[in-house]
Amino acid sequence: MIEVVEASKRFGTLEAVSQLSFTVNPGEVVGLLGENGAGKTTTMRLISGILQPSDGEIRIGGILTSTEPLAARKQVGLLFGGDVGLYGRLTAWENIAYFGRLYGMAERQLRERIAQASEKLGMESYVRKRVAGFSRGMRQKVAIARALVHDPPVVLLDEPTTGLDVSGALVFRELIAQLRQEGKAILFSIHNMSEVKKLCDRVVIMHKGRIRFQGTIEEWRAPYDSDDPTDWFLPVIQGGGCDE
Ligand SMILES: Nc1ncnc2c1ncn2[C@@H]1O[C@H](COP(=O)(O)OP(=O)(O)OP(=O)(O)O)[C@@H](O)[C@H]1O
Ligand SMILES: [Mg+2]
Repeated sequence: MIEVVEASKRFGTLEAVSQLSFTVNPGEVVGLLGENGAGKTTTMRLISGILQPSDGEIRIGGILTSTEPLAARKQVGLLFGGDVGLYGRLTAWENIAYFGRLYGMAERQLRERIAQASEKLGMESYVRKRVAGFSRGMRQKVAIARALVHDPPVVLLDEPTTGLDVSGALVFRELIAQLRQEGKAILFSIHNMSEVKKLCDRVVIMHKGRIRFQGTIEEWRAPYDSDDPTDWFLPVIQGGGCDE
């Protein structure tokens, strides 16, 4: 569903990502890991069509992001953690609806989708309120609903659990499980290693713009004696990993 083929992105003289190749299949959850500045967000922006690769190509459901950026973009739900960019003066409902209309959704379908998402994410008590007074976790849930409103087959989540409390994180985990069951191709970046172990089918580990390792959780942990994924992560980025 997501195919990245030898994609590179340069900003001036800096090569932020170099010759990335990986795929994410329908129904698969892939964790994109790496330290600050490794190139994770750049990779997500390339896949979502916000950025174009300097070299190589990216296909979403077979559609090339370089030649059909709008068609590719419709296949993708994109969620960034941190400042989620909602309109404070609009209600949660209006924020989500605004996005849905951009994707050309019909009003009735939009209403159904928002009601469903609001129930699923436990937002019913505040979905009709203005976002301006919301806590970080509440905003994050609105942003999740907004990213998924058009039911995209590809879901990109860049540090989505930032700001979520314990129950929010649990809701998020259930959401991932459900999206996987619906057959979505899911790529997300996350710094919390224990979450990675619980959530991902496979990982892609980046360091300084390059892929150092990709494989299943079992393949990743195999060389190590520890149950703690931090112990599997550090050797990979310190140069001990193998790129398959
Ligand atoms: N628009 C841009 N212009 C110039 N340099 C950029 C731009 N976007 C990213 N970079 C650089 O590309 C590199 C990769 O950045 P990126 O944001 O992809 O990292 P990241 O893995 O998402 O890091 P973090 O974990 O901190 O979010 C960094 O060196 C960053 O400074
Ligand atoms: Mg980032």
